[in-house]
Formats: sequence, C-alpha cells, structure tokens
Amino acid sequence: MTTPRFLMCRPDYYAVRYEINPWMNRQVQPNHGRAVIQWESLVRLLSVHLGATVSLLPPLEQQPDLVFTANAGFVSGKVFIPSRFRYPQRRGEEAWFRKWFEENGYQTRELPGEAFFEGFGDALPFNGMVFAGYRFRSDIQAHRELGRLLDVQVVSLELTDDRFYHLDTCFCPLETGDVLYYPRAFDRYAIEAIRGTVEREHLIPVDEAEANSFCCNAISVRTSVLMNTGSPRLTARLNGRGYEVFTTDLSEFVKSGGSAKCLTLRLE
Ligand code: ARG
Repeated sequence: MTTPRFLMCRPDYYAVRYEINPWMNRQVQPNHGRAVIQWESLVRLLSVHLGATVSLLPPLEQQPDLVFTANAGFVSGKVFIPSRFRYPQRRGEEAWFRKWFEENGYQTRELPGEAFFEGFGDALPFNGMVFAGYRFRSDIQAHRELGRLLDVQVVSLELTDDRFYHLDTCFCPLETGDVLYYPRAFDRYAIEAIRGTVEREHLIPVDEAEANSFCCNAISVRTSVLMNTGSPRLTARLNGRGYEVFTTDLSEFVKSGGSAKCLTLRLE
C-alpha cells in the first residue's frame, strides 16, 4: 500500500486580511491560537489515522492564504501545473509554490494563455478524468488547456453559488469512486454532466447545512474520509456505506472559506 503524501503550510501568518469570497469578513478574524491547534490536529489525523506523510511549505508573512495549499496548482505524477490566481491578493503565492515544486523534483509545465486557474481547488481527478469548476475563480478556457497539456478528459462544471466558489467546496470525488456533492451549487447543465459521468449509485448528495459546514471539502484516503465537524447525518450515511469518517473542528479556517481538503495538496 502506498503512503499518501500531502503538502501543507503552517498557519503562522494566517488571517483574514482581505475579502475575496463571501465567508471572509475582516471584522471576524480567526483566533490564532485556535487555528494553530486545529491545523495541528489535522496534521495528526492525517499522519496517525490515515497513515499519511506531510511535507511542509514554509509560510510567508505577506500571504495569509498560503495555508490553502490545494490552490498551488495541479499535480499529476511529477508534473506541476501552477495556478494563476484570479485575485491579485493571492498572486504573491505563485512564485513561492513554484519554487517548492521545482526544488522537490517536479517538472513545471505552464498552462498556455492567460486564463485564471486555481489548481486543485477547482480541478479534481476522478477515474482517469478531471472534473473542473469555473466561473468564480478558474476560467473554462484553462480547463481546455489543462486537458490538452495532460491529455486527459476534463468535464467542466459551472458553479452558480458564490459561497461555493471553488469546486472543492461543493464536490468531492472519493478514492472509492463515490462522489459527495451539493447539487444546488451547480447549474442545470453541470448537474447533467455529473449524472452523465458518475453512476447514480456513486453519487452522494449533501444538504445545504452539510454543505455550509464544508463537508464536501473532505480528504479521501482509501475508505477513510476526513472532514470538518458539523455533518453528523452524512457521517452516519458514510459509515453505513463502509467508510471510516474522521471529523475535526476547522472553524477558524471556515472564516476564510476553507476547510480540510484545501489545507492540503495531494502529492503523488
Ligand atoms: N481564502 C481563500 C480564498 O478565498 C480560501 C481558499 C480555499 N481553497 C479551496 N481550495 N477551497 O482564496
């Protein structure tokens, strides 16, 4: 069994210093001490219960959202495709992520063109294909370039609710082939695309309260699922399907519009 590897970044400078999604409010700052404890618990769960290895990206004082390493880019084997952030506030992260991947033996391949692309936040591998979200952060043109670069089929999904601005906030392919998703975050055609690609018995819809607690921003390793607290019904459903579910409080990161999955980037 291979050991899953994740890239993470300590929340030393994590804060809400600007507002680029509806969850962020500069008047509602994360509590620093609590954020550190929550982040460390996540690391512990990953290593102790999911048997994962965690690599660390050094934090940068000027980039409070660097903790959300899922947005570094898209990783396929030893190929790293860097993100091009929509908001200038996050663009300062790009060179730092790139440097880490180059120093760690990855080959960087640029997406041609100028389309915005926010990496594993919006592009999620599933059964040899990639589901990709667009509108709030990534552009649909970037999906075409990604598909061409990696020679994979990309299924583009339009997001319609700005609370679920990244695909990984409302859609979560699990390693077993099941998919968690919040249907109301997608336009009608996207729902058709999902139903046309994932067999019905593999689709697990979640309700609004569960979606708001970021249950779709979950980490999947084999039959384990790790997510924020606040979705007891979903937890029970997943247990019933044979999953082992780990929940941990990530309230301080929800204040920035993020949770378990986007605090990690899966390395291969
Ligand atoms: N505050 C960050 C932003 O708005 C949160 C990013 C969460 N990342 C994710 N992949 N969902 O950019």
